[in-house]
Amino acid sequence: MQDEHHRQGRRAGMRISRFTIALAAVVCAGSLSAQSSPKAAAPAANLNQLMRSLFFPHSNVIFFTQRYDPKDVKPASEPSGSTDPLTGVFGGWEAVENSALTLADSADLLMTPGRKCSNGRDVPLANADWVQMVNGLRDASMFAYKAALTKDRDKMLQASDVLATSCSNCHNKYRPGNVANRCK
Ligand code: HEC
Repeated sequence: MQDEHHRQGRRAGMRISRFTIALAAVVCAGSLSAQSSPKAAAPAANLNQLMRSLFFPHSNVIFFTQRYDPKDVKPASEPSGSTDPLTGVFGGWEAVENSALTLADSADLLMTPGRKCSNGRDVPLANADWVQMVNGLRDASMFAYKAALTKDRDKMLQASDVLATSCSNCHNKYRPGNVANRCK
């Protein structure tokens, strides 16, 4: 009887300790995520790498519509492996919509603290005109998204012009010929 009591006590004890461990794990996980979530990871790419890898290819998907109709794009021989959004599984006009949305959301990446330009300068986040031009890019991208939804190529001509202007507004000031003077 006493033995039985003991066993039960031990079992209850084990239950409690397992529960405690589980609870501790949850509390730890909670405090870990509470510590890490507000702070974004340091950026991996410099500004030039980001421009070449993201803004350049996705804006080309928008600019493509100036000369061609996305509905006429022939899917790649293996659409699931296509490296061109227009010829992939999610191609045609859907690719134009999605590239516009990607550009809009990616404007935030131009405001990520800690990113450097290729010459080692900080991306000039504190400059009022930088922020303005980043917002200009975001607005132009949303304009292109709305144009893509209409599948009207005249609207896409206009949207391409607005988008290209948002790029060159910033390049004219922050990407001068002399690399040493970029981001200045
Ligand atoms: C808010 C400012 C800003 C906006 C908006 C912007 N860029 Fe840039 N871009 C820069 C800067 C600054 C550089 C040079 C970065 C460096 O050297 O690190 C650059 C570099 C580039 C490069 C690389 C040039 C090279 O020398 O290899 C490309 C391509 C590019 N941008 C395309 C675009 C396109 C396309 C858009 C619009 C869809 C755009 N950028 C919008 C600031 C901007």
